[in-house]
Amino acid sequence: MNDSQLTSLLKEMTLHEKVGQLVQLATPFFKGASDQGQITGPMQEMGLSHEDIENTGSVLGASGAKETIAIQRKHLEDNRLGIPLLFMSDIVHGFRTIFPVPLAIGCSWDLDLAEKSAALAAKEAAVSGVHVTFAPMVDLSREPRWGRVMESTGEDTYLNSEFARSFVRGFQGDLQQDAYKVASCVKHFAAYGAPEGGRDYNTVDMSEWMLRESYLPAYKAALDEGCEMVMTAFNILNGVPSTGNKWLMRELLRDEWNFDGALISDWGAVKELIPHGVAQDEKEAALQTLRAGVDIEMMMSCYFKHASQLVEEGLLEESTIDEAVLRILRLKNKLGLFENPYREADEADEKNFILTPEHRQAARELAGKSVVLLKNEQALPLSNKKKVALIGPFAHNTDILGPWSWGGSAEDTITLDAGMKQYLNADYLLVSEGSGIETGTEQQLQEAMQIASKGEVIVAALGEHSDMSGEAGSRADIRIPEIQLELLKQLKSLGKPVIAVLFNGRPLDVREIIEHADAVLEAWYPGTEGGNAVADILFGDVNPSGKLSMSFPYSVGQVPVYYNQFNTGRPKDAPDAQIRFVSQYLDIPNEALFPFGYGLSYSTYHYSEMSLSTEQITPTEKLTVHVDIKNTGSMAGEEIVQLYIRDLVGEVVRPLKELKDFTKVTLQPGETTTVEFTIDESQLRYYHTDLDYKSDSGEFEVFVGPNSRDVQSRKFKLGNV
Ligand code: NOJ
Repeated sequence: MNDSQLTSLLKEMTLHEKVGQLVQLATPFFKGASDQGQITGPMQEMGLSHEDIENTGSVLGASGAKETIAIQRKHLEDNRLGIPLLFMSDIVHGFRTIFPVPLAIGCSWDLDLAEKSAALAAKEAAVSGVHVTFAPMVDLSREPRWGRVMESTGEDTYLNSEFARSFVRGFQGDLQQDAYKVASCVKHFAAYGAPEGGRDYNTVDMSEWMLRESYLPAYKAALDEGCEMVMTAFNILNGVPSTGNKWLMRELLRDEWNFDGALISDWGAVKELIPHGVAQDEKEAALQTLRAGVDIEMMMSCYFKHASQLVEEGLLEESTIDEAVLRILRLKNKLGLFENPYREADEADEKNFILTPEHRQAARELAGKSVVLLKNEQALPLSNKKKVALIGPFAHNTDILGPWSWGGSAEDTITLDAGMKQYLNADYLLVSEGSGIETGTEQQLQEAMQIASKGEVIVAALGEHSDMSGEAGSRADIRIPEIQLELLKQLKSLGKPVIAVLFNGRPLDVREIIEHADAVLEAWYPGTEGGNAVADILFGDVNPSGKLSMSFPYSVGQVPVYYNQFNTGRPKDAPDAQIRFVSQYLDIPNEALFPFGYGLSYSTYHYSEMSLSTEQITPTEKLTVHVDIKNTGSMAGEEIVQLYIRDLVGEVVRPLKELKDFTKVTLQPGETTTVEFTIDESQLRYYHTDLDYKSDSGEFEVFVGPNSRDVQSRKFKLGNV
């Protein structure tokens, strides 16, 4: 259809039919309820009629070609104008082939593989009948207590923005040309990743300056890449719930950023204006969110029950509804649904395209690149000539897919012991649980100790079960449960090398683990191929290269702790710093235990002294930074070389360092390569007090290094701004 045909269609619609397009309901509502002439439980609770269901615009969570085709077919029979449904689902890090969680993908710093993972997920989802994915989630977070940090790529604005672009390219690409793509819905707008105290859904209060500097760019990057939809956030932002926030959605998103795609509320977030205490009832909530620009209400009936009435009573312009409907119709049209309402949904293709060896291989590769080696006292890699005792609740556990992996399944998942069996003869691998994840028995412990005593080396597979992170998965204590720490200590007392492998969804307080293990691998939730990917690293087939995209705190008391902090007026490390009256903790260090960008390899890399092409540039000039990187180890490997900049004197305070660029180099043992970075004025801009985004003349420091802490630096000047 062309746009004028869509407008004609809109003109034919009754007000109720229009409102229906603005509602999204979950799959159970469409499963034959109207056939049987019955109202199901949730429908009754929400007070919806059959007519409402027939007019609904989109479905949440349906998947599988059989199901989506059946729902669409029935809907087209029922809907007076034959307007097809949009099927939306959370395809966050894979559909059936589960890739590592996004925080792990962040640690790969591998934008191409991230894009590929999204493209493969999109293909699996598309043949199952999904049209829109609620991804990428790009909420910047400095909050390891927050369970949803596993859905983000981490704490850095630049890195998150680059990943946002990669994911959108992968999921959505050219939606109109490529049927194996799904539309992307970036979320959660805005600043959902900064809840007070790390408690999910909690208050966010931050200056517009901070919002623009750090939190907004990743959403903008996704939109610049063409992302079709935006989802609101559950949090309040500076006193106004995001979902009813006119400034955020009308002024910023629509007027300033010119976003003209569809905006959907998060689940039930329209109605949540009532408990937030800014709306008296559902009618007022609907009025506020419609006025603020929320086109689709997810999974509640405030719009269905009140939107028509609001128009009839003259409280809401019908044109507001029309604009929203048109945006939804346009998306349906872009997906080609008016011509082919089933798009790529196909049961035969599901068999051919889902969980293929190629998809598994990509998942294994990305998982391998996401693992971060935190410590290694010559304990890794393992030799297949030594007996390994694999102990711990994650030794043989399929709960390594992580939250948002509802399409994945346990039987497809490679556990750690299964992965290790690829490398070891059966009598060289001894396995025991030792404890559960949160509780355990003396018998479990004793059995594990006996088995461990027969091994020459111990691998302790520890972590959090997947419900300990994800939505509503906040924790105040970010250590692994006590029972597992006890198990680790007992294992260490046997006097053998102990390697801890961690499966979890957040930066943890790992101090005790570091103390009691000779090597520590952060494996995150590595996905379907997790056991293989971790085994590849344990046995040295893959050289670890992941680097943290989020700082690991020394203790939860430091949180939020992040690398790009400000200096304060009393920095602890100033040459003239006093002993007491400086910005510090009396009982713990200021610094994270493992900083942003940190990760070890089985090789070592030597960085030569960096050189600058010039020490002064104007806004039209560029400067290049050169540094030679040499693999001084005995194994080929990849090194992620990072470039940071500090503006030494700004109109407002500037971070001590900001990531501005990075590159990955692959080096054979003994090989050297020259890395070149280019710096220009555009990378030196920041938000001033008047919220103008620009640079100033002055002095800057540029840093290069293997992480945000261990860097070398040089100074340069920007003139004539
Ligand atoms: C609530 C979550 O906050 C959001 O991320 C998700 O997309 C929706 N539920 C739909 O499942």
